[in-house]
Amino acid sequence: VAPLKVGIAGLGTVGAEVVRLIEEQSRTLSARCGRGVRVVAVTARSRVKKRKLDLRGIEWARSPLALASDPGIDCFVELMGGSGDPALSAIEAALKSGKSVVTANKALIAKHGLRLAHAAEKHGGALNFEAAVGAAIPVVKTLREGLAGTGINRVYGILNGTCNYILTRMEQEGLSFAECLKDAQRLGYAEANPSFDVDGHDTAQKLAILASLAFGTKVAQGAVYVEGISSIAPEDLRAAEELGYRVKLLGVAVRTAKGIEQRVHPTMVPKTSSIAQVMGVTNAVTIDGEGIPPITLVGPGAGGAATASAVLADIADVARGIRAKPFGRPVDKLRATKKAPMERH
Ligand code: NDP
Ligand code: HSE
Repeated sequence: VAPLKVGIAGLGTVGAEVVRLIEEQSRTLSARCGRGVRVVAVTARSRVKKRKLDLRGIEWARSPLALASDPGIDCFVELMGGSGDPALSAIEAALKSGKSVVTANKALIAKHGLRLAHAAEKHGGALNFEAAVGAAIPVVKTLREGLAGTGINRVYGILNGTCNYILTRMEQEGLSFAECLKDAQRLGYAEANPSFDVDGHDTAQKLAILASLAFGTKVAQGAVYVEGISSIAPEDLRAAEELGYRVKLLGVAVRTAKGIEQRVHPTMVPKTSSIAQVMGVTNAVTIDGEGIPPITLVGPGAGGAATASAVLADIADVARGIRAKPFGRPVDKLRATKKAPMERH
């Protein structure tokens, strides 16, 4: 069987690690997929930037759109970020030409996921975005496939590695918010615009995606109430600790009689609770399904290696010929999201 020919747009924290890992894991990928996986072309903003990557033998495409439209690739991998162009038009072009797409871009999926899922369905390609939520944690697949036969009542957890890293270091080391954020950026955890992390929007995008997968509703980022962590100081964390609490930025999506309530805000959790033990860049997602005890998935929630691991899993699915419905059911079967009024918790 011919190898899967992959084109990658974006060679930053995640993209560079994906190129490296495909090379490093080529035997494993080939054994698991029954065919090889080869990076044949890449692109990024700057062609001359020094990168710790061996790109010999790999073609440089002149733009993301040119790469996505290249008949020489089977799978377009978008790792540039941004909820608009060039990511949007490149992904759309790839899907319209029947290619499969893998992306880690939650901002784009939260905003245009339905339109892109529709294009994938119409033209027969896959649209895989496991890395968009919880980095290495396979939470998209868990909701979409593993729990396909289970009614879901609630999905909640820590969905942003940068915020949990900042809160952990502020609490444990008494460092300032600004110092911790700087480190999160240096370690490749933060978004290109870190206000997406600290103001809660990144968590809201991920929550909107999870809610759609869990409840079979249309992704609706606008239905999420959002509050971030940027005004929290080490003294606030100390005060919470004195009362026996830790502060975590939680995303919560609950099915209620009045609709789906979706909210993101800093929350005081008892220090003895399992969610309070989730520290650093780690994420945790709990799924309350009907008739079964809650399922909690915990793992690294940001960073090049963690995210690349999920991107590779999505590429492997494409190589195996798996074409899951992006949101777990046909786009025309997704219901409109009825936003529930916020209850006091
Ligand atoms: P980086 O900022 O590190 O890398 C972005 C890459 O995209 C760079 O190589 C950049 O080029 C390229 N790029 C940006 N704009 C353009 C453009 N207009 N045309 C061509 N190339 C462009 O981002 P990350 O790797 O951290 O993130 C990539 C995606 O993965 C984002 O959607 C992010 O939300 C998502 N993600 C990131 C995680 C993380 O932990 N970092 C975790 C989960 C998801 P150049 O190098 O030349 O500047
Ligand atoms: N900036 C994001 C975070 C990357 O810190 O969680 C992973 O999605």
